Amino acid sequence: MLLRNSLLWMAGNPVLRRQASHSRLIRPLARRFVAGETMEQALQVTRDLNRQGAHVTLDYLGENVTAPDEAAAVRDTYIRLLDEIARRQLDSNVSLKLTALGLDISSELARDNLRAILEVARRHANFVRIDMESSAYTQATLDLFETLYCGEGFTNVGVVIQSYLYRSAQDIERLIALGARVRLCKGAYKEPPTVAYPRKADVDRNYIALAERLLLHGNYPGLATHDAAIIAWVKRFTREQGISRDRFEFQMLYGVRRDLQQQLLGEGYHLRIYVPYGEAWYPYLMRRLAERPANLLFILKALRHR
Ligand code: FDA
Repeated sequence: MLLRNSLLWMAGNPVLRRQASHSRLIRPLARRFVAGETMEQALQVTRDLNRQGAHVTLDYLGENVTAPDEAAAVRDTYIRLLDEIARRQLDSNVSLKLTALGLDISSELARDNLRAILEVARRHANFVRIDMESSAYTQATLDLFETLYCGEGFTNVGVVIQSYLYRSAQDIERLIALGARVRLCKGAYKEPPTVAYPRKADVDRNYIALAERLLLHGNYPGLATHDAAIIAWVKRFTREQGISRDRFEFQMLYGVRRDLQQQLLGEGYHLRIYVPYGEAWYPYLMRRLAERPANLLFILKALRHR
Protein backbone atom coordinates (compact mmCIF):
# COMPACT_ATOMS: atom_id res chain seq x y z
CA MET A 1 0.00 0.00 0.00
CA LEU A 2 2.86 2.36 0.91
CA LEU A 3 4.58 1.61 -2.40
CA ARG A 4 1.33 2.07 -4.33
CA ASN A 5 0.75 5.44 -2.69
CA SER A 6 4.35 6.54 -3.34
CA LEU A 7 4.10 5.58 -7.01
CA LEU A 8 0.78 7.41 -7.36
CA TRP A 9 2.33 10.46 -5.71
CA MET A 10 5.23 10.23 -8.18
CA ALA A 11 2.69 10.05 -11.04
CA GLY A 12 1.51 13.54 -10.17
CA ASN A 13 4.91 15.12 -9.48
CA PRO A 14 5.83 17.58 -12.26
CA VAL A 15 9.60 17.60 -11.50
CA LEU A 16 9.86 13.82 -11.70
CA ARG A 17 7.67 13.87 -14.78
CA ARG A 18 10.09 16.22 -16.55
CA GLN A 19 13.15 14.21 -15.56
CA ALA A 20 11.69 10.80 -16.45
CA SER A 21 10.29 11.97 -19.77
CA HIS A 22 13.81 12.87 -20.90
CA SER A 23 15.57 9.93 -19.31
CA ARG A 24 17.17 7.74 -21.92
CA LEU A 25 16.92 4.83 -19.48
CA ILE A 26 13.23 5.01 -18.64
CA ARG A 27 11.82 6.07 -22.02
CA PRO A 28 12.41 2.77 -23.81
CA LEU A 29 10.95 0.89 -20.84
CA ALA A 30 7.64 2.69 -21.16
CA ARG A 31 7.28 0.78 -24.43
CA ARG A 32 5.97 -2.24 -22.60
CA PHE A 33 2.75 -0.33 -21.85
CA VAL A 34 2.77 2.40 -24.50
CA ALA A 35 2.54 1.75 -28.25
CA GLY A 36 5.04 4.50 -29.09
CA GLU A 37 5.39 8.24 -29.15
CA THR A 38 3.89 8.77 -32.64
CA MET A 39 0.45 8.25 -34.16
CA GLU A 40 1.98 6.10 -36.88
CA GLN A 41 3.39 3.66 -34.31
CA ALA A 42 0.02 3.49 -32.53
CA LEU A 43 -1.82 2.80 -35.79
CA GLN A 44 0.60 0.00 -36.65
CA VAL A 45 0.07 -1.61 -33.24
CA THR A 46 -3.69 -1.27 -33.82
CA ARG A 47 -3.43 -3.07 -37.13
CA ASP A 48 -1.47 -5.92 -35.52
CA LEU A 49 -4.01 -6.28 -32.71
CA ASN A 50 -6.90 -6.20 -35.19
CA ARG A 51 -5.21 -9.02 -37.11
CA GLN A 52 -5.21 -11.04 -33.88
CA GLY A 53 -8.96 -10.49 -33.60
CA ALA A 54 -8.94 -7.73 -30.95
CA HIS A 55 -10.84 -4.46 -31.08
CA VAL A 56 -8.83 -1.42 -29.99
CA THR A 57 -9.38 1.90 -28.27
CA LEU A 58 -6.63 4.47 -28.91
CA ASP A 59 -5.62 6.96 -26.25
CA TYR A 60 -3.47 9.98 -27.04
CA LEU A 61 -1.62 10.39 -23.75
CA GLY A 62 -1.89 13.65 -21.86
CA GLU A 63 -3.83 15.12 -18.97
CA ASN A 64 -4.25 18.31 -16.97
CA VAL A 65 -3.36 20.77 -19.72
CA THR A 66 -3.20 24.37 -18.51
CA ALA A 67 -3.49 26.43 -21.71
CA PRO A 68 -6.36 26.59 -24.25
CA ASP A 69 -3.85 26.17 -27.12
CA GLU A 70 -2.65 22.87 -25.71
CA ALA A 71 -6.23 21.64 -25.34
CA ALA A 72 -6.94 22.64 -28.94
CA ALA A 73 -3.86 20.70 -30.09
CA VAL A 74 -5.12 17.60 -28.28
CA ARG A 75 -8.55 18.05 -29.90
CA ASP A 76 -6.96 18.31 -33.35
CA THR A 77 -4.84 15.24 -32.73
CA TYR A 78 -7.97 13.22 -31.89
CA ILE A 79 -9.66 14.48 -35.03
CA ARG A 80 -6.70 13.39 -37.15
CA LEU A 81 -6.66 10.08 -35.33
CA LEU A 82 -10.34 9.44 -36.11
CA ASP A 83 -9.74 10.35 -39.75
CA GLU A 84 -6.78 7.95 -39.95
CA ILE A 85 -8.68 5.10 -38.27
CA ALA A 86 -11.41 5.53 -40.90
CA ARG A 87 -9.01 5.92 -43.82
CA ARG A 88 -7.11 2.76 -42.86
CA GLN A 89 -10.33 0.89 -41.99
CA LEU A 90 -9.07 -0.05 -38.54
CA ASP A 91 -11.28 -1.52 -35.84
CA SER A 92 -10.67 1.10 -33.17
CA ASN A 93 -12.52 3.79 -31.29
CA VAL A 94 -10.83 6.44 -29.12
CA SER A 95 -10.53 7.12 -25.39
CA LEU A 96 -9.80 10.58 -24.03
CA LYS A 97 -9.41 12.53 -20.82
CA LEU A 98 -11.39 15.71 -20.27
CA THR A 99 -8.47 17.38 -18.48
CA ALA A 100 -6.51 16.95 -21.74
CA LEU A 101 -9.28 18.91 -23.47
CA GLY A 102 -9.13 21.77 -20.97
CA LEU A 103 -11.43 20.78 -18.08
CA ASP A 104 -9.08 22.45 -15.58
CA ILE A 105 -9.47 25.71 -17.50
CA SER A 106 -13.25 25.57 -17.89
CA SER A 107 -15.90 22.95 -18.49
CA GLU A 108 -17.18 24.98 -21.48
CA LEU A 109 -13.78 24.68 -23.17
CA ALA A 110 -13.64 20.92 -22.58
CA ARG A 111 -17.23 20.57 -23.81
CA ASP A 112 -16.56 22.53 -27.03
CA ASN A 113 -13.42 20.50 -27.76
CA LEU A 114 -15.21 17.23 -27.09
CA ARG A 115 -18.15 18.25 -29.26
CA ALA A 116 -15.81 18.89 -32.20
CA ILE A 117 -14.32 15.39 -31.73
CA LEU A 118 -17.76 13.78 -31.42
CA GLU A 119 -18.93 15.38 -34.65
CA VAL A 120 -16.01 13.88 -36.56
CA ALA A 121 -16.51 10.52 -34.84
CA ARG A 122 -20.19 10.56 -35.79
CA ARG A 123 -19.32 11.26 -39.41
CA HIS A 124 -17.13 8.15 -39.34
CA ALA A 125 -19.73 6.12 -37.36
CA ASN A 126 -17.19 5.83 -34.58
CA PHE A 127 -17.37 6.02 -30.80
CA VAL A 128 -15.61 8.11 -28.14
CA ARG A 129 -15.05 6.95 -24.57
CA ILE A 130 -14.44 9.54 -21.87
CA ASP A 131 -11.94 8.05 -19.43
CA MET A 132 -12.61 8.70 -15.76
CA GLU A 133 -9.95 10.61 -13.83
CA SER A 134 -9.63 11.23 -10.08
CA SER A 135 -12.71 11.82 -7.92
CA ALA A 136 -12.14 15.59 -8.16
CA TYR A 137 -13.51 15.26 -11.71
CA THR A 138 -16.22 12.60 -11.37
CA GLN A 139 -19.21 14.93 -11.17
CA ALA A 140 -17.92 17.34 -13.82
CA THR A 141 -17.22 14.40 -16.16
CA LEU A 142 -20.67 12.87 -15.72
CA ASP A 143 -22.33 16.28 -16.11
CA LEU A 144 -20.47 16.98 -19.32
CA PHE A 145 -21.27 13.50 -20.59
CA GLU A 146 -24.99 14.06 -19.96
CA THR A 147 -24.95 17.46 -21.63
CA LEU A 148 -23.60 15.97 -24.84
CA TYR A 149 -25.31 12.57 -24.71
CA CYS A 150 -28.81 13.62 -23.58
CA GLY A 151 -28.85 17.36 -24.26
CA GLU A 152 -27.19 17.36 -27.68
CA GLY A 153 -28.02 13.84 -28.86
CA PHE A 154 -24.50 12.45 -29.26
CA THR A 155 -25.20 8.75 -28.82
CA ASN A 156 -21.63 7.89 -29.86
CA VAL A 157 -20.11 8.81 -26.49
CA GLY A 158 -19.68 6.68 -23.36
CA VAL A 159 -18.18 7.03 -19.89
CA VAL A 160 -16.25 5.06 -17.29
CA ILE A 161 -17.31 4.09 -13.77
CA GLN A 162 -14.82 3.07 -11.07
CA SER A 163 -15.82 0.38 -8.57
CA TYR A 164 -13.62 1.85 -5.82
CA LEU A 165 -15.94 4.88 -5.43
CA TYR A 166 -18.85 4.62 -2.99
CA ARG A 167 -21.00 6.74 -5.30
CA SER A 168 -20.66 4.36 -8.29
CA ALA A 169 -23.68 2.18 -7.44
CA GLN A 170 -25.93 5.24 -7.83
CA ASP A 171 -24.11 6.49 -10.92
CA ILE A 172 -24.53 3.11 -12.59
CA GLU A 173 -28.28 3.12 -12.04
CA ARG A 174 -28.58 6.56 -13.61
CA LEU A 175 -26.45 5.56 -16.61
CA ILE A 176 -28.46 2.36 -17.08
CA ALA A 177 -31.67 4.42 -17.06
CA LEU A 178 -30.17 6.68 -19.76
CA GLY A 179 -29.15 3.69 -21.92
CA ALA A 180 -25.56 4.94 -21.79
CA ARG A 181 -22.55 2.81 -22.68
CA VAL A 182 -20.37 2.27 -19.61
CA ARG A 183 -16.85 0.94 -19.16
CA LEU A 184 -16.44 -0.51 -15.68
CA CYS A 185 -12.98 -0.50 -14.07
CA LYS A 186 -11.68 -0.63 -10.51
CA GLY A 187 -10.07 2.84 -10.48
CA ALA A 188 -6.44 3.89 -10.75
CA TYR A 189 -6.04 7.06 -8.67
CA LYS A 190 -5.05 7.80 -5.09
CA GLU A 191 -8.35 8.41 -3.30
CA PRO A 192 -9.15 9.12 0.37
CA PRO A 193 -11.32 6.68 2.38
CA THR A 194 -14.03 9.33 2.52
CA VAL A 195 -14.83 8.70 -1.17
CA ALA A 196 -13.39 5.26 -2.03
CA TYR A 197 -13.21 1.79 -0.50
CA PRO A 198 -9.75 1.47 1.05
CA ARG A 199 -9.80 -2.36 1.00
CA LYS A 200 -9.18 -4.16 -2.29
CA ALA A 201 -11.64 -6.93 -1.31
CA ASP A 202 -14.43 -4.32 -1.17
CA VAL A 203 -13.41 -2.81 -4.51
CA ASP A 204 -13.50 -6.29 -6.08
CA ARG A 205 -16.86 -7.13 -4.48
CA ASN A 206 -18.34 -3.86 -5.70
CA TYR A 207 -16.96 -4.51 -9.19
CA ILE A 208 -18.95 -7.75 -9.36
CA ALA A 209 -22.10 -6.09 -8.01
CA LEU A 210 -21.87 -3.29 -10.61
CA ALA A 211 -20.94 -5.67 -13.42
CA GLU A 212 -24.02 -7.74 -12.62
CA ARG A 213 -26.26 -4.66 -12.99
CA LEU A 214 -24.58 -3.70 -16.27
CA LEU A 215 -24.71 -7.20 -17.74
CA LEU A 216 -28.39 -7.57 -16.91
CA HIS A 217 -29.59 -4.07 -17.77
CA GLY A 218 -26.78 -2.06 -19.41
CA ASN A 219 -26.04 -1.12 -23.00
CA TYR A 220 -23.09 -3.18 -24.30
CA PRO A 221 -20.90 -2.71 -21.18
CA GLY A 222 -17.11 -2.80 -21.38
CA LEU A 223 -15.74 -4.88 -18.52
CA ALA A 224 -12.22 -3.52 -18.07
CA THR A 225 -10.14 -5.73 -15.83
CA HIS A 226 -7.26 -8.23 -15.83
CA ASP A 227 -8.59 -9.91 -12.72
CA ALA A 228 -8.79 -13.61 -13.58
CA ALA A 229 -11.31 -14.34 -10.81
CA ILE A 230 -13.67 -11.60 -12.02
CA ILE A 231 -13.28 -12.71 -15.63
CA ALA A 232 -14.15 -16.27 -14.62
CA TRP A 233 -17.20 -14.92 -12.78
CA VAL A 234 -18.33 -12.95 -15.86
CA LYS A 235 -18.06 -16.06 -18.04
CA ARG A 236 -20.06 -18.12 -15.53
CA PHE A 237 -22.70 -15.44 -14.91
CA THR A 238 -23.34 -14.70 -18.59
CA ARG A 239 -23.60 -18.42 -19.35
CA GLU A 240 -26.10 -18.96 -16.53
CA GLN A 241 -28.17 -15.90 -17.51
CA GLY A 242 -28.13 -16.64 -21.22
CA ILE A 243 -26.38 -13.33 -21.99
CA SER A 244 -24.77 -13.73 -25.40
CA ARG A 245 -21.17 -12.72 -26.15
CA ASP A 246 -22.19 -9.89 -28.44
CA ARG A 247 -23.90 -8.02 -25.57
CA PHE A 248 -20.70 -7.05 -23.76
CA GLU A 249 -16.94 -6.86 -24.23
CA PHE A 250 -13.91 -7.43 -22.10
CA GLN A 251 -11.31 -4.66 -22.12
CA MET A 252 -7.63 -4.82 -21.16
CA LEU A 253 -4.59 -2.58 -21.28
CA TYR A 254 -1.90 -2.92 -23.93
CA GLY A 255 0.98 -4.99 -22.54
CA VAL A 256 -0.88 -6.31 -19.49
CA ARG A 257 -1.75 -10.02 -19.13
CA ARG A 258 -1.22 -10.85 -22.78
CA ASP A 259 -1.79 -14.53 -21.87
CA LEU A 260 -5.34 -13.76 -20.71
CA GLN A 261 -5.94 -11.60 -23.76
CA GLN A 262 -5.02 -14.49 -26.10
CA GLN A 263 -7.15 -16.89 -24.09
CA LEU A 264 -10.27 -14.71 -24.32
CA LEU A 265 -9.79 -14.20 -28.04
CA GLY A 266 -9.33 -17.94 -28.52
CA GLU A 267 -12.58 -18.56 -26.67
CA GLY A 268 -14.45 -16.19 -28.98
CA TYR A 269 -15.12 -13.32 -26.56
CA HIS A 270 -15.08 -9.69 -27.68
CA LEU A 271 -11.91 -8.08 -26.35
CA ARG A 272 -10.87 -4.45 -26.74
CA ILE A 273 -7.29 -3.44 -26.04
CA TYR A 274 -6.64 0.05 -24.69
CA VAL A 275 -3.62 1.32 -26.63
CA PRO A 276 -2.01 4.54 -25.36
CA TYR A 277 0.56 6.49 -27.33
CA GLY A 278 2.25 9.87 -27.23
CA GLU A 279 5.09 11.67 -25.52
CA ALA A 280 3.24 12.33 -22.24
CA TRP A 281 3.50 8.73 -21.05
CA TYR A 282 4.98 9.34 -17.58
CA PRO A 283 1.83 9.51 -15.35
CA TYR A 284 0.28 6.61 -17.28
CA LEU A 285 3.39 4.47 -16.70
CA MET A 286 3.48 5.31 -12.99
CA ARG A 287 -0.17 4.27 -12.56
CA ARG A 288 0.60 0.93 -14.23
CA LEU A 289 3.52 0.43 -11.85
CA ALA A 290 1.33 1.32 -8.87
CA GLU A 291 -1.18 -1.36 -9.88
CA ARG A 292 1.50 -3.99 -9.82
CA PRO A 293 4.72 -2.92 -8.11
CA ALA A 294 6.28 -6.20 -9.33
CA ASN A 295 6.52 -4.35 -12.66
CA LEU A 296 9.30 -2.35 -11.02
CA LEU A 297 11.39 -5.52 -11.04
CA PHE A 298 10.95 -5.70 -14.79
CA ILE A 299 12.31 -2.15 -15.05
CA LEU A 300 15.18 -2.76 -12.64
CA LYS A 301 16.18 -5.93 -14.50
CA ALA A 302 16.19 -4.07 -17.79
CA LEU A 303 18.34 -1.33 -16.25
CA ARG A 304 20.86 -3.93 -14.99
CA HIS A 305 21.30 -5.36 -18.48
CA ARG A 306 22.00 -2.00 -20.13
P1 FDA B 1 -6.19 -5.87 -10.18
O1 FDA B 1 -5.46 -4.62 -9.89
O2 FDA B 1 -6.81 -6.60 -9.04
O3 FDA B 1 -5.25 -6.83 -10.98
C1 FDA B 1 -5.62 -8.15 -11.32
C2 FDA B 1 -4.43 -8.83 -11.96
O4 FDA B 1 -4.16 -8.21 -13.21
C3 FDA B 1 -3.13 -8.71 -11.19
O5 FDA B 1 -3.01 -9.72 -10.25
C4 FDA B 1 -2.10 -8.79 -12.30
O6 FDA B 1 -1.93 -10.14 -12.69
C5 FDA B 1 -2.78 -8.09 -13.44
N1 FDA B 1 -2.44 -6.66 -13.51
C6 FDA B 1 -3.21 -5.60 -13.17
N2 FDA B 1 -2.59 -4.43 -13.43
C7 FDA B 1 -1.40 -4.78 -13.95
C8 FDA B 1 -0.30 -4.02 -14.44
N3 FDA B 1 -0.29 -2.69 -14.44
N4 FDA B 1 0.78 -4.70 -14.90
C9 FDA B 1 0.79 -6.04 -14.93
N5 FDA B 1 -0.21 -6.80 -14.48
C10 FDA B 1 -1.30 -6.19 -14.00
N6 FDA B 1 -8.84 3.49 -14.42
C11 FDA B 1 -9.42 4.70 -14.17
O7 FDA B 1 -9.36 5.18 -13.04
N7 FDA B 1 -10.06 5.37 -15.18
C12 FDA B 1 -10.18 4.85 -16.43
O8 FDA B 1 -10.79 5.49 -17.30
C13 FDA B 1 -9.59 3.58 -16.69
N8 FDA B 1 -9.67 3.01 -17.93
C14 FDA B 1 -9.23 1.71 -18.10
C15 FDA B 1 -9.42 1.08 -19.32
C16 FDA B 1 -9.07 -0.26 -19.46
C17 FDA B 1 -9.33 -0.94 -20.78
C18 FDA B 1 -8.51 -0.98 -18.38
C19 FDA B 1 -8.18 -2.44 -18.48
C20 FDA B 1 -8.27 -0.33 -17.18
C21 FDA B 1 -8.61 1.00 -17.03
N9 FDA B 1 -8.36 1.68 -15.84
C22 FDA B 1 -8.92 2.92 -15.64
C23 FDA B 1 -7.44 1.09 -14.83
C24 FDA B 1 -8.20 0.31 -13.77
O9 FDA B 1 -8.94 1.19 -12.97
C25 FDA B 1 -7.25 -0.51 -12.88
O10 FDA B 1 -6.37 0.37 -12.23
C26 FDA B 1 -6.44 -1.55 -13.63
O11 FDA B 1 -7.19 -2.16 -14.64
C27 FDA B 1 -5.95 -2.66 -12.66
O12 FDA B 1 -7.04 -3.30 -12.09
P2 FDA B 1 -7.55 -4.77 -12.50
O13 FDA B 1 -9.03 -4.68 -12.71
O14 FDA B 1 -6.80 -5.28 -13.64
O15 FDA B 1 -7.40 -5.62 -11.19
